[in-house]
Parts: sequence; structure tokens; C-alpha cells
Amino acid sequence: MRFVNPEPDRKLSIAPMLDITTRHFRRLARILAPHALLYTEMVPTPALAHGRPEGFLFHTLEEQPLALQIGGSDTRECALSARMAADAGFCEINLNCGCPSRRVHSGNFGACLMKDPNQVVDIIRAMKDAAPNLPATVKCRLGVDDHDTEEHLFSFIRTVADAGCNTFIIHARKAFLKNMSPAKNRTIPTLRRAAVYRVKDAFPELEIIINGDLRTAQDVMAQFPHVDGVMVGRVAYEAPMALAEMEHALFGTPLPASHKEVVATFLPYMEEEVATGTRLFDMARHLMGLYAGQPGARLFRQRIAATVQDHAITPKDILDACPPPHS
Ligand SMILES: Cc1cc2nc3c(=O)[nH]c(=O)nc-3n(C[C@H](O)[C@H](O)[C@H](O)COP(=O)(O)O)c2cc1C
Repeated sequence: MRFVNPEPDRKLSIAPMLDITTRHFRRLARILAPHALLYTEMVPTPALAHGRPEGFLFHTLEEQPLALQIGGSDTRECALSARMAADAGFCEINLNCGCPSRRVHSGNFGACLMKDPNQVVDIIRAMKDAAPNLPATVKCRLGVDDHDTEEHLFSFIRTVADAGCNTFIIHARKAFLKNMSPAKNRTIPTLRRAAVYRVKDAFPELEIIINGDLRTAQDVMAQFPHVDGVMVGRVAYEAPMALAEMEHALFGTPLPASHKEVVATFLPYMEEEVATGTRLFDMARHLMGLYAGQPGARLFRQRIAATVQDHAITPKDILDACPPPHS
């Protein structure tokens, strides 16, 4: 069994994102934000319980602190997942109660669990029994469908906290389970950060992490009188340099000297992985947003995209494709 950090620092975390927060992304995120808590992509519990769990659980020490996010509603599968997460060295297991996708909804997990707090209680208890030292946390929305009053939210939080969940990550929007795609569910429902602040006021003993549209260090710092931490999602791949600025503002870590320095620091990892047969694109794609808003960004992205067809492009070529610094 590997060392498990019992309580990670959650001042800054990078959201679980399917098809984004792969182990390659996490290595890059670690360069930009050494103190951030990182999350895996959501892993469905049937895949852990009945599939081949090794691939989902695999990670390196450099990615720590790292939390495993699961999507599931079967208490036995969730308990087994918690045991596996503890044994694999994750520092937290997080239950997805916020994803509104149809596929997740039909599996009766994700955001629809907010309508069934007692089921979440059973899951949290089962996970705590299976892995008593592993923090079990919940990521949720402000509400779902017509379960969207502050009373519903407070009752959900109170009920689940009583089962032993001390940390809630709240995306400051409600979710619509019908007739709205997950992408639209991230923009159309009104962002209501004050509702999350009121959760913290009502439950000062709980750790409350706010999520939703936090894109700059300034946005992040403005949350701190109100909540215990921030979780950032899309900006981490759309404009990853923002992570370094958030890390700098929160922890005083020096900013990278340049964008190119970030690529140079990522280079040995890309080279090692390519040597073991990983496609260069699988790693380099996470650099696509690095120069967002900077001159030369388009050419840099094109060079990365070209690695899909042109297997002669090397990691060093990606470094050489960095636009020159502008004055
Ligand atoms: C591409 C993508 C994939 C996502 N996958 C997950 C996921 O696996 N689990 C989850 O809880 N949320 C997922 N989310 C939601 C994010 O974790 C986050 O809650 C949301 O993007 C709002 O934060 P932001 O405004 O900072 O992006 C995903 C979001 C995106 C954009």
C-alpha cells in the first residue's frame, strides 16, 4: 500500500474533466500549479468493480496530491472503488453528484443523485467503512430541475455531511437533467456564487469549495473571504498559464520565466513517454492553449495538431515551435 495523504490542501484544485484530466494533462498541470489538488477524469464504478481497474488507477507520485473521482450509485461498487483508491495511494475519493449527462443520468448517478440524498448517505457510509482514512468528498450543483431551492441544497448538504462527508465542491449553477447538454449546462443556468457563500455561512464547520467560471487569479482571490477553496475547470486547458498565475497568487510560487520554459519542463516527460510508445499528440494536445491570446498561438497549435499525421515530429520540435517572446 502506498502512502495516503489524509487531508490534501484544497485551496486550489483542478476539476475532474473527461477526456482532459488524463495522466498526461496532470503532469503538465503539476508543472504549472505545484500545490494544486488534481483530479482524475470521472471513472464509472462498474469499470472499477467489473473491468480492469489498473488502467484507471495508474498514476505517478509526481501527480500527487491526486483525487479519484467516481461516478456511480451502487454502494458496493462505490465501497470497492474507495478501497482501491486508498490502496492505490489517492488522497481523496470524490463522488460525482453534478454531472447532468444523459448517459450518467440513465445510469442513475451524477447530478440526479442530488434528488436522492439518502442514496448519497449510503454511498458515503459504505466508502468510509471500506476506506476509513480516505477523505470522501462530494462534487455537486446548487440543485437539479425542480429540486433547486436553497432549502433543498441545505438539506442535501446537511444530510450528506451527517454521513461523514466534510468537503463539498459546489458548481455554482443548477443543472437541468432534461433537454440540455452537459456543455450547455455549464453556461446556460445562471451562475450564483452567493448561494455557495451562503452554504459556507450556514455550515462553517464544513469545507466548501466553489467551482464555476473562475478564470483568473483575481477571480480566485476574490472567493477567499467566502469559501475555503476554489476548483477551476475549463481555463486549465483553454489557457493553462492562468494556473501558474493562480498558484502564484495563492502560494507565492514564482511564475514560470516564460511560456517556453513550461514546454521545456514538460519536454523530458514527453520524451520518456514517446520512448515507451505513447503518441506525442496525447501529451502535446494539452499544450494547445498555452499561448492563448498571444502572437504565434495559431502556428503553435497547428504544429501540435500535425503530430497526429506526421510521426516524424518529435517533442523537441514542439519546443522549437514555441513562438518567440514578444516585446
Ligand atoms: C470537457 C469537460 C469534461 C468534464 N468532465 C467532468 C467529469 O468527469 N466530472 C465532473 O464532475 N465534472 C466534469 N466536468 C465539469 C467540471 O468539472 C466543472 O465542474 C465545470 O467545467 C465548471 O467549472 P469551470 O467553469 O471552471 O469550467 C467537465 C467539464 C468539461 C468542460
